Amino acid sequence: MGAILMTSLLAVAEASTSITKSDDALGAKLTKSSALKAMKVGQSLVYRGVEPSHKTIEVILTKTKSGLIALDGTCTSKGEVVTLKRTQLICVSQGSVYQASSGAVVLGPNGSSKDSIPPLNRYTITEKSGWIWIK
Ligand code: FES
Repeated sequence: MGAILMTSLLAVAEASTSITKSDDALGAKLTKSSALKAMKVGQSLVYRGVEPSHKTIEVILTKTKSGLIALDGTCTSKGEVVTLKRTQLICVSQGSVYQASSGAVVLGPNGSSKDSIPPLNRYTITEKSGWIWIK
């Protein structure tokens, strides 16, 4: 996955935050680690950002039993942004459904099989200096 070029991020489920620093090795600053202490297993937070090209980016951060995962919220069918509904990510374009805990496809577009599209892309997460970075 290429470098993230977000200029700002807004966490939907918590106070607003912004990227103040980008690092080639670490990627983009997502949120303070301390902001995630109260997160429960199975809970997700959605962060939205805008690239310099004005393309909207969505990052879904989910706490799993084995740790945090960060997913690119871009539907792998035709690139629309997915919406978090409880533990699933829904694309309103053609109805694809993904698991927020893994990015796995539950249902493909227009009711097609889960094998018809790839899972959501995952970011690599690094925790450093009290921040969560994604790349
Ligand atoms: S773009 Fe998401 S289902 Fe088509």
